[in-house]
Amino acid sequence: MGTPVDPTPEVVAEALRAASDAPGYPQTWGTPELRTAVAAWFARRRGVPGLDPDGVLPTVGSKELVAWLPTLLGLGPGDLVAHPRIAYPTYDVGARLAGARPVVVDSVDDLERAAAEGPVRLLWLNSPSNPTGRVLDVAEMAALVTAARSHGAVVASDECYAELSWAGAAEPSPVPSVLDPRVSGGDLDGLLAVYSLSKQSNLAGYRAAFAAGDPVLVRELLQVRKHAGMIVPAPVQAALTAALADDAHVSAQRERYRSRRAVLLEALGRAGFRIDDSAAGLYLWATRDEASAESVAWFAERGVLVAPGSFYGPAGARHVRMALTATDERVAAAAARW
Ligand SMILES: Cc1ncc(COP(=O)(O)O)c(C=O)c1O
Repeated sequence: MGTPVDPTPEVVAEALRAASDAPGYPQTWGTPELRTAVAAWFARRRGVPGLDPDGVLPTVGSKELVAWLPTLLGLGPGDLVAHPRIAYPTYDVGARLAGARPVVVDSVDDLERAAAEGPVRLLWLNSPSNPTGRVLDVAEMAALVTAARSHGAVVASDECYAELSWAGAAEPSPVPSVLDPRVSGGDLDGLLAVYSLSKQSNLAGYRAAFAAGDPVLVRELLQVRKHAGMIVPAPVQAALTAALADDAHVSAQRERYRSRRAVLLEALGRAGFRIDDSAAGLYLWATRDEASAESVAWFAERGVLVAPGSFYGPAGARHVRMALTATDERVAAAAARW
């Protein structure tokens, strides 16, 4: 499953410890240091220069934002929330919590079809994708942004696997962000990038994430979140700030996953599985052209838990999702059994 197993980096744990005396309420908006660190990270790692720190908002992990964004935006019955066909289930859950209707959108044509049925108020993108590892390129993202804007929809792009790209060199070029000027056209109106440190920094237990983009939208979310108590604890804000300033631990973690991925790829090939997409992110999207339950059972008989692709929508029903999140020793043991 997709839960990290390697230690939390010492530089991050130390920042948490150093901030443990926290008698006062933390800032819902995030400390200025944190918001500046997010803007610097976007410039350094994601090709997004000049992000306004006012357009940054820490979140208690990103799952809560995914689940509550439609509600926080005031969506409700009659509104449509679009998400990818094969997707992390929380996009659908969030639409339903708000009383809105989830619809599947992977392309501009899909979006136009959905818009003919009702007002699409929110479009979720997820690149790199969980579970498929597919990456949207600049042109695909830009086209979806343009189409969503023409319908007045907010575009929220869940990018939590962006640092885990397997393309080419050891220091890969960044996976495009929705805030990239080539995607946004230099105008962040209606755009929100959602990012989490759970995966890149082994911080899932800290609940450390943020959203960034359109400062007007962020301010609206801030007003609601303040009153709803959706506040990131002060020591976690300090840990998040330290993690964003340190690229070394992210590279080290990427290399750990890269070598596990190579072992698993080789063993899956030997066992007759084909890998689709999986260009980035924490998963291998594997198929043997059989129902996912059969593949799950085959792995289970060998003591290995994988997720059936059907968890992520009917279109995933002939795949399984295998996470890279096991120790080197467990990965080697699993590969040897196949
Ligand atoms: C696509 C996607 N979005 C969001 C999350 C939530 O991560 P977290 O709540 O740990 O930030 C996950 C976790 O698996 C995910 O795969």
